[in-house]
Amino acid sequence: MKILFVGDVVGSPGREMIKEYLPKLKAKYRPQATIINGENAAGGRGITESIYKEFLETGANAVTLGNHTWDNKDIFEFIDDAKFMTRPANFPEGTPGSGLIFIKAEGIETAIINLQGRTFMQALDCPFQKADELIKKAKARTNIIFVDFHAETTSEKQAMGWYLDGKVSAVIGTHTHVQTADNRILPKGTAYLTDVGMTGPYDGILGMDREAVIKRFITSLPIRFEVPKTGRKQLSACIIEIDRKSGKANKIDTLLINDDHSFIVE
Ligand SMILES: [Fe+2]
Ligand SMILES: [Fe+2]
Repeated sequence: MKILFVGDVVGSPGREMIKEYLPKLKAKYRPQATIINGENAAGGRGITESIYKEFLETGANAVTLGNHTWDNKDIFEFIDDAKFMTRPANFPEGTPGSGLIFIKAEGIETAIINLQGRTFMQALDCPFQKADELIKKAKARTNIIFVDFHAETTSEKQAMGWYLDGKVSAVIGTHTHVQTADNRILPKGTAYLTDVGMTGPYDGILGMDREAVIKRFITSLPIRFEVPKTGRKQLSACIIEIDRKSGKANKIDTLLINDDHSFIVE
């Protein structure tokens, strides 16, 4: 079976790329599970119910989140009813939403776990211990387990990849918005990628208007970042091939669609 995972969709440029390319990518690869990280989908900050529904209508089966989960207050109105959306599981006990969801297509059930790192990020529960706890729950239903590890540092992400090698089908990093080239299958059968990258404005800085970001670096003033509405765009994703019985991965390829990395989609 195949999983298509698209990295952090930023604002309307990111959503436009989803509308344009997701159906083409699905037609080309025929994944049984299509997952989108949507933590920046609403103007760079969080997600709304209408965007969540739009993702599902465009062909996503599930949406993962991250540290921007609560940025758009619309989230509190629908997160508990959004069966196909998951937020970091190691948020404090009692937080709305769920960190583990299940989706099913063509008779194949996929467990999706969202976790957030702690290095140079908010203090949260231990993502490693939380992973163990949720993998136990997931294993009772399926061997296909996908982990979106939303973290800042390459070391914490590599540590999670190695820690979960052989326990899950894939550990894919999000949050840093720049795709890494270290896609590999770890020795015990877990697909690993430090960061899948960002889907949105191509000529900004991590998807935000670059002038504002540069100004903030130079002045240290609290300048608000906005998503540029016009300009070139990109889509970042990966495609993972998994043995449907054992849940072990045998292939992971990265996909990058922008003006410098031409990618042919018929
Ligand atoms: Fe992000
Ligand atoms: Fe993030």
